[in-house]
Amino acid sequence: MSETKILILYYSMYGNTFRMAEEVSQGVKKVKGVISEIKKVPELIPDSIIQSNETMKKAREMQKDIPVATLDDLRNCDGLILGTPTRFGNMCSQMRNFLDQTGKLWQEGSLIGKPAGVFTSTATFHGGQETTLISMILTLLHHGMLVVGIPYNITELSSTNTGGTPYGASHVVGENTYQQLSQDEKVLCRALGKRVADIAVKLKHTTEAI
Ligand SMILES: Cc1cc2nc3c(=O)[nH]c(=O)nc-3n(C[C@H](O)[C@H](O)[C@H](O)COP(=O)(O)O)c2cc1C
Repeated sequence: MSETKILILYYSMYGNTFRMAEEVSQGVKKVKGVISEIKKVPELIPDSIIQSNETMKKAREMQKDIPVATLDDLRNCDGLILGTPTRFGNMCSQMRNFLDQTGKLWQEGSLIGKPAGVFTSTATFHGGQETTLISMILTLLHHGMLVVGIPYNITELSSTNTGGTPYGASHVVGENTYQQLSQDEKVLCRALGKRVADIAVKLKHTTEAI
């Protein structure tokens, strides 16, 4: 039986969403026979702006070893987990730009039937986590993907006083530009990764057996 590949595709300007991607990957890796790949979407901000901002420079350095995704990465994955910082209650333009290049994949039906999940990071508690998660889910549904959320039997979903939603994992940064994930946020990121991976393995084995 061939290995199951989960692609964690994200963008992060200040590093918070990147740290979430790492936690999601920890969850994916808990499932036997699964390969976890973290990739970022291409940057759209001019280099001169990044170089003039210390936090952005630090975040870029943090992510320097993460490869930039291509459309083939989407085509070849068995499960997909998207992550973006919130921009006015929506996904960031870098992610939107990448997804808007997937018309050919949509025509081919390359993503139909594959499981997918989402995660986001916001500055504030009520700054649009759910709307951002749903903005990604809309595109995933158009691609025919099977959206996987986080169920309430993960008890941290009820007890968290930071991020975490049934629509996907989330992180509240607060007043600082960069804030470490809370323990509950980490648990929920890992739960999302594990759930998408678990389902991807089951679906792949069923399809291969037919
Ligand atoms: C243009 C812009 C729009 C933003 N819009 C929101 C928003 O609607 N709600 C919110 O809570 N935070 C908002 N933020 C804050 C970011 O979501 C926050 O910095 C981000 O989650 C950090 O993630 P990162 O470290 O991965 O870049 C915005 C930031 C920028 C630059």
